[in-house]
Amino acid sequence: MRLSIIILAAGQGTRMRSDLPKVLQPLAGRPLLSHVLDCSKALAADDICVVYGHGAEAVQAAFANQSLRWALQAEQLGTGHALQQAMLGTPDENRVLVLFGDVPLLRPTTLSALLDETPHDEVSVLTVDMDDPSGYGRIIREADGDGVSAIVEEKDASVKEKAVREINTGVLACPADKLKRWLKNLSNDNVQGEYYLTDVIAMAVDDRVEVHGIKASSPVEVMGINDKKQLAEAERALQARLVDALMKKGVGFADPARADIRGTLTCGKDVFIDVNAVFEGDVELGDGVKIESNNLIRDSRIGAGTVVHSNCHIEASSTGNDCEIGPFSRLRPGAELANNVKVGNFVEIKKSTVDDGSKVNHLTYIGDTEIGKGVNVGAG
Ligand code: UD1
Ligand code: MG
Repeated sequence: MRLSIIILAAGQGTRMRSDLPKVLQPLAGRPLLSHVLDCSKALAADDICVVYGHGAEAVQAAFANQSLRWALQAEQLGTGHALQQAMLGTPDENRVLVLFGDVPLLRPTTLSALLDETPHDEVSVLTVDMDDPSGYGRIIREADGDGVSAIVEEKDASVKEKAVREINTGVLACPADKLKRWLKNLSNDNVQGEYYLTDVIAMAVDDRVEVHGIKASSPVEVMGINDKKQLAEAERALQARLVDALMKKGVGFADPARADIRGTLTCGKDVFIDVNAVFEGDVELGDGVKIESNNLIRDSRIGAGTVVHSNCHIEASSTGNDCEIGPFSRLRPGAELANNVKVGNFVEIKKSTVDDGSKVNHLTYIGDTEIGKGVNVGAG
C-alpha cells in the first residue's frame, strides 16, 4: 500500500501569543515544522503533504526549497477540516499517516513501528500515558478489549474522562478511502465549534473498523507544543538528545545541560566543551579542540588543537590548527586564520586572512586585510 504523510500546520497557535505562525517557532534553531518534515522524510513515503493556512506566505517561503505537496486551509475550522483539504489530492488506495506540525520530537522509528505493527486497512492512533494529561484529547478504551472507542477533547470531557491519563498524540494511520468518508460526516457541534479530526475514531468504531491504540514509550517524544512553556520544555529535551548523541561519540561536556546546538555540530576526537557554549548553523570542531565557557560559534570551522578561550563571538569564520582565540575576541564573517595564529582580548577581525604564526593580541580591529606569516600586531 502506498503511503501519504499529511502534516497539519495551518493553525495560528493562539496560545503562543506571537506574530510568528506556530509551526515557524524555532526549536534548536529551526522551525517546528522542519523537525516534523525531517522525521517524515526518514520514512519511505510516496507523498508528503503540508496543510497550511495561517501565515500562509511565510510558511511556504520557509520551505520553498523542498519538494512538498501543499494544501491550503483558508479558514482554520479544526483539525478534521484541515485534513479534509489534503484528502482531495490523496488517492483512495493509499494509507494515510497524519502528523501535527506542532509535535516535533517524534522519531521515525516510533512511526515505522506503528505502521508495521497494525493492519493497513484498519485505524491506528499513537497514544501515551502522561502524568499531567491537561490540554490533550483523552483516549477512551473499549470496556471489553483493548481497542479505542473514542477520543474526547479536554474541553468536551466529563470529569471521569478528564481523569484518563492516556492521551492522543495526534498521530493517526488510516486507509484514505475510509478517512474521506468519515471526514465528510464530521460536525462542529462541540465546545470549540471546530471540526475535530478525533471524531473519526467513534465513526470507525460505528463502521466496525478496528481502532488500535499503540502506546509510545516516551511522553516527551510526543509532546504537542502549544505555548512558550512547552516550547522551552521541548527545547531542553531536544538539546539533551543532541548532546547525548555527541557524548556517545566521545565529545566531552563540562555540563551536558549547558550547551546548545542550533544546527549541526560535527566534532573530531577529544573535543571538550565547557559551560554555556552555543553552536548555530554548521559548526565543525577539529580533533582536540577546547571551547571554554561562554562562547557563541556560528557557521564556522575550528581547526585541530585550537583553544577558544572564554567569551568569544565567532561567525562564518575559520581557524587553522593550534590557534588561540580570546578571551573576548570577535571573528566576523570572512575571518580566516591559518595555523598557530593568536587572536587576543578585544580584537575584532572581519573579512581578512591571517597567515601562520601571526599574533593580534590586544585591542585591535583588522578589516579587509591580508596579514602574512609571523606578523605581530601591537596593541591598538
Ligand atoms: C490536538 C488534538 C488532541 C491531541 C493534541 C496532541 C484535535 C481536535 N485535538 O489538540 O486530541 O491530544 O493535538 O498534541 O485534533 N491545525 C490546522 N488547522 C486547524 C486547526 C489545527 O492545520 O484548523 C493544525 C495546527 O497547526 C497544529 C495541529 O493541527 O499543528 C494541532 O492543532 P492544535 O490546535 O494544536 O490542537 P490541540 O489543541 O493541541
Ligand atoms: Mg497542539
